[in-house]
Amino acid sequence: MSGAVRHWALIPAAGVGRRFGAEVPKQYLALAGRPVIDHAIAAFIGHPAIAGCAVVLGSADGWWSDVSAYANHPDVLRAPGGAERCHSVRNGLTALADRAAEDDWVLVHDAARPCLRRSDLDRLLAALREEPVGALLAVPIADTVKRADAGQVAETLPRSALWRAYTPQAFRLGLLRRALAQAQARDVVVTDDASAVELLGLRPALIECQADNIKITRPEDLPLAAFYLQQQQLDVQGRSG
Ligand code: C5P
Repeated sequence: MSGAVRHWALIPAAGVGRRFGAEVPKQYLALAGRPVIDHAIAAFIGHPAIAGCAVVLGSADGWWSDVSAYANHPDVLRAPGGAERCHSVRNGLTALADRAAEDDWVLVHDAARPCLRRSDLDRLLAALREEPVGALLAVPIADTVKRADAGQVAETLPRSALWRAYTPQAFRLGLLRRALAQAQARDVVVTDDASAVELLGLRPALIECQADNIKITRPEDLPLAAFYLQQQQLDVQGRSG
């Protein structure tokens, strides 16, 4: 391998969306004229810094080929899903390794996050030039947070140091593969990629993004995402008008 380090997107999309409760997994629900997952992929495909994208699909996925405009896109690879998100990401990394180098950056982004702004993605990509470990988009927490124990407050956490971890989360392919393998070897089911890297004793950078980069989790999130996309469109039109 020669040449500059490249950037790849990895979209885990093998979840069934149990908390959402719809028959169709949430990543395939219609949002502003296309499936949720296509909004997530569109943020990367066509971006000049992104070399390609791996999409991780569940074994029972009967939707991707029928509804995604990216189903036959030459820059979109497919990988099989795993039991948990972290297993799906590992499978996506294996698929990317055919094309990507160990030092290439992989930006892992939830299929269920359709409102990623180009400006936030660009801020993350810029941060990678300064951050050897890697970085993730995140938002400082505005609410007071309680730790619960059997339905009662066990502790109030100091809010000033708390952030919500969003995606994309960007790490070198080799490092992320090692981190996820080690988490699995220790029987830790990490719920994001940064957690696996943290288990190695490393400290990814938090890059603040807009709070509209939400993950569709519950039914009320879908109209909210539609509203955010509409606002983003108006912002773009306002800037170019
Ligand atoms: O369940 P949750 O909302 O945390 O899922 C985040 C992302 O991980 C979603 O895009 C989902 O499709 C994906 N996922 C996966 N494989 C799993 C579970 C979740 O790719 N086994």
